[in-house]
Amino acid sequence: MTEDASAKKDLAAVKGTKDILPKEVESWRALERLARETFELYGYRELRAPVFETTELFEKGTGATSDIVTKEMYTFTDKGGRSLTLRPEYTPSVVRAIIEHRLDLEVEPMRYYYMGPMFRYDKPQKGRYRQFHQVDIEVFGEKDAAVDAEIIEMADSLLRKLGVSGTETLVNSVGCRECRPAYSQALREAAGKRKSDLCPDCQRKAETNPLRIFDCKVESCQAAARSFPVIQDFLCGECLSHFNTLLVFLNQYRIPYRVEPRLVRGLDYYTKTTFEIVSSHLGAQNALLGGGRYDDMMKDFGGPDVCGIGFAMGMERVLAVAELAVPKRKSLYLAYLGDEAKKSGLELARYFRANGVECLVEFKDRGMKAHFGRANKLQAAWVLVVGEDEMKKSRFGLKEMATGRQVEGTREELLALLRDKVRGIEAPC
Ligand code: HAM
Repeated sequence: MTEDASAKKDLAAVKGTKDILPKEVESWRALERLARETFELYGYRELRAPVFETTELFEKGTGATSDIVTKEMYTFTDKGGRSLTLRPEYTPSVVRAIIEHRLDLEVEPMRYYYMGPMFRYDKPQKGRYRQFHQVDIEVFGEKDAAVDAEIIEMADSLLRKLGVSGTETLVNSVGCRECRPAYSQALREAAGKRKSDLCPDCQRKAETNPLRIFDCKVESCQAAARSFPVIQDFLCGECLSHFNTLLVFLNQYRIPYRVEPRLVRGLDYYTKTTFEIVSSHLGAQNALLGGGRYDDMMKDFGGPDVCGIGFAMGMERVLAVAELAVPKRKSLYLAYLGDEAKKSGLELARYFRANGVECLVEFKDRGMKAHFGRANKLQAAWVLVVGEDEMKKSRFGLKEMATGRQVEGTREELLALLRDKVRGIEAPC
């Protein structure tokens, strides 16, 4: 390898991270816009928390026995000797922010959303990255299972707007601190009988938190897990009634679902409801979004006893299956001839931009033919022609590239014309 090539390789984007290039960004923005619009219809407000937090926050929140905390965190010591972690998920950050700012005392509904990057040191593969992006929503203070169904309905509605098809909604309950210990004990006993089928990691999980065995992707562990008892047989009266109410509301919303008793999800904090929406168009990493209830996290953090529920959607995965109608940009290309026309042209560009028209200006000396060639390449919708004649008359030429139609007018007349055209499609600014 030449020195140059090796330097290039050294400076390449880090494994598991990706640039989002301008041609992809339009879809990202469409997803972000639709997510915002959808969540705000349900009364959610945006809450932006920092990208890194104390390591302890995730150890306590995400959970000491989760794969995320045991294997996947980007943890570092800062110059002040503090252990910090790039957030692997968003939920503990929101709970911390509520406690810190006493948001529980405010009158607004505690419904929050956020979009941004998360970081997990997992083995990169299709649909699994080390820096990935989530759209996250969280609701606090709603005990009623109607809200569990409502957030699933909201996720479903967003996926429809994004043109995502071929999805399946999986739901489960993981019980609560009352009923889960008996289930964990039953799992421990079942795991003990199948010890030789379990990988070393799952043999350890059998001791620490046997529910985590269900997260394992090793085939022999999954086969063993299929023979384990199901949680539905262990739910206490309250958890069972909560689960049944969730199903009633899902039926009410006419959302098809499948009860998946092994859906415990990889995080330690869940109580009662867990759910995922998976896609049949993706490979192994098929979860488009996942979430659940976490009624104990706030009080475990030393805050008020306020329950919570939410979900996070993987933006890369959703965009891989979304069918989005991204509106085509409509821009005006400035074609000027000579130095004087350049000055007038720049004034004109300023006028059109101030009035919301995207204006492309380049500073290479070009003849008219070359200007039109360049406008074509840039896929400009119109070309504005500024030459000596035009300047004298203060009337400029405008050519619509798609039809070849040309008109002449003052800048005000041309702006009115462009506005009419642009409005039909979508305002450029
Ligand atoms: P999670 O299941 O860990 O849940 O992640 C949610 C979604 O993020 C996944 O369904 C997937 O689409 C995406 N995702 C996760 N890891 C990766 C990765 N390495 N590369 C690409 N996409 C990924 C949570 O994060 C919880 N905080 C969800 C939640 C919110 N529960 C309650 N409130």
